[in-house]
Amino acid sequence: MKRTKLAVFASGSGSNYEAIVEACRDGRIEADVVLLVCDKPGAKVLERAKRFGTESFAFNPKDYESREAYETVLVSMLEERGIDYICLAGYMRIVGKVLLERFEQRIVNIHPSLLPSFKGAHAIQDAVDYGVKIFGVTTHFVDETLDGGRIIDQAAIVYEGSDIEELTNLIHNIEHKLYVKTINKLINKKY
Ligand code: GAR
Repeated sequence: MKRTKLAVFASGSGSNYEAIVEACRDGRIEADVVLLVCDKPGAKVLERAKRFGTESFAFNPKDYESREAYETVLVSMLEERGIDYICLAGYMRIVGKVLLERFEQRIVNIHPSLLPSFKGAHAIQDAVDYGVKIFGVTTHFVDETLDGGRIIDQAAIVYEGSDIEELTNLIHNIEHKLYVKTINKLINKKY
C-alpha cells in the first residue's frame, strides 16, 4: 500500500513538526512528512526541517499580490509531491479557498485551547487571564475561519498553578501526543 504523504505548515518554533516527523520515523504514524511550508523566512522550524532532512519551502506572503496567488503556488507544490494531508502546526495564517477547495477535508490544525474557547494566537495567555482551570488542546478540520472547523480530538488538563512557562510546556507535551492520534485517524479515515 502506498505510504501517506504529509505536508506540515508552520510559522514558528516547530516542536509539533518535530513530534510528527519523529512519530513517522518510529512507526507511530504510517506516513512521511514530505514537505514543510513556512510563511516566516528565518523561523526556527526551518532549522529543524534542515536537521531532519525535510524539504522546506519558505515564503513571505507580502511578496504575493493576494492569498490566492501564494496558495496557487502552494497547491502546485503539494500536488507535484502527491501530498495527501496538510497538518497546520503553529501556522499563524488563515487558509483560503484555493487550498481549502483542493484539499477538502484534508487540512487539519492543532490549537492550544479547548475550542471553541480562546481562538487566536495567544490562546494559553488568554485562558490564564480569564482564570481558566481546565486547559486543553484541540485538533480540528480547517475551514476559512480563525481556528474554526469540525473538532476531531481534544485533551484536557487541570492546572491551578501560576507558572505560564510550566503550563505552556505541559500543553505542548499534550499537543505532541494528540497530533499523532489525530493523524492516525485521518490516515485510517476514522473521524
Ligand atoms: C502550538 O501550541 C500550536 O497549537 C499553536 O502554535 C504553537 C506552535 O508551536 N497554534 C495556534 O495557536 C493556532 N492558532 P510549535 O511551533 O512549537 O509547534
